[in-house]
Amino acid sequence: MLLAIETSCDETSVALLERNGTVRANLIASQIERHQPFGGVVPEIASREHLQHLFPLLTRALGHAGAKWSDVEGIAVTAGPGLIGALLVGVAGAQGLAYGLGVPLIPVNHLEGHLFSAYLQKEGAAIPMPARFLSMVISGGHSSIYDVKAGVSTMLNRTRDDAIGETFDKVAKFIGLPYPGGPQIEKFGREGSADPKRFPFPVPQFKEESLDFSYSGIKAGAIRLAREHGITATGDAKSLADFCATFQDALIAQLIDRLDAVWRRIDEPKPTEIAIAGGVAANGVLRDRVARWGGERGLIVRLPEKRYCTDNAAMIGFAALQREGSATDPRRVIARSRVH
Ligand code: KG4
Ligand code: ZN
Repeated sequence: MLLAIETSCDETSVALLERNGTVRANLIASQIERHQPFGGVVPEIASREHLQHLFPLLTRALGHAGAKWSDVEGIAVTAGPGLIGALLVGVAGAQGLAYGLGVPLIPVNHLEGHLFSAYLQKEGAAIPMPARFLSMVISGGHSSIYDVKAGVSTMLNRTRDDAIGETFDKVAKFIGLPYPGGPQIEKFGREGSADPKRFPFPVPQFKEESLDFSYSGIKAGAIRLAREHGITATGDAKSLADFCATFQDALIAQLIDRLDAVWRRIDEPKPTEIAIAGGVAANGVLRDRVARWGGERGLIVRLPEKRYCTDNAAMIGFAALQREGSATDPRRVIARSRVH
């Protein structure tokens, strides 16, 4: 069995997987409540929390999977990108364990974990990954579409400024909703109607040749509109709901617009499958829109289980299973906040 550890940001997570991608345990200790008073992740708090949670979580994960230490044949760990102090806790822990157990250690790029995560199932073996697919990673730190061929990804676009999740979080914070803002905006928006006349969010204009996302305009527009209309978490409930619904709609409209621009630019034969991944992929309205967009083009759309959208160790283990050749001497693994 493969043991996987993820500590790149604000979730400590430990998973156990079988070779075919069956997830036997995937435990997550979320630190959200510890960071909430600060409206965002505080790196020093994150490292300390990982230190506290990692080892108890390892024991629990083994128990959950009905496994013993001697069943662990290899260890996967997120080596970057992420908060360096947070990564170091996972990497140092994994190094010690791999060395002690005498098993290989596989460093994993966090982003690659997200890339493949739509193929993991709640129960049973993973869905076989096609030779080629598009994967859209949308999280607090990333908004990019990748062309994945035989497990090798090529970035097709990126955001020029803020990531989509970051935009959800910053606007939510401005109106006084707790961190992380994405699920809050979705929750309040559910009761509202998206009326672009009442809240005219700026529609970014892109030059024909650009495929990139850009969310800073919508963010600035949202903050201006919230100020003008007095939108706050404790204010008029109907206005808050309408504001959230319209803001979410504007973000998703751009996502689909750019996805379509990327799609049109891809040469024939085009991929037949698209996956989405990352925390923002948990958004129900977004999932429906991507499914509809893909359906209209005859594509297979892979929407990850919600548990595999936000940071989790199962996806790290699964990425390692695609890269078994990259196991290395545990002492050689280095945590890196940025990975090029
Ligand atoms: O993948 P993730 O857990 O961490 C990063 O690697 O960034 O993503 C966290 C992001 C946050 O910005 C959060 O607001 C967003 O995902 N998010 C959502 C939803 N759930 C989480 N955004 C929109 N709707 C959601 N339901
Ligand atoms: Zn992530």
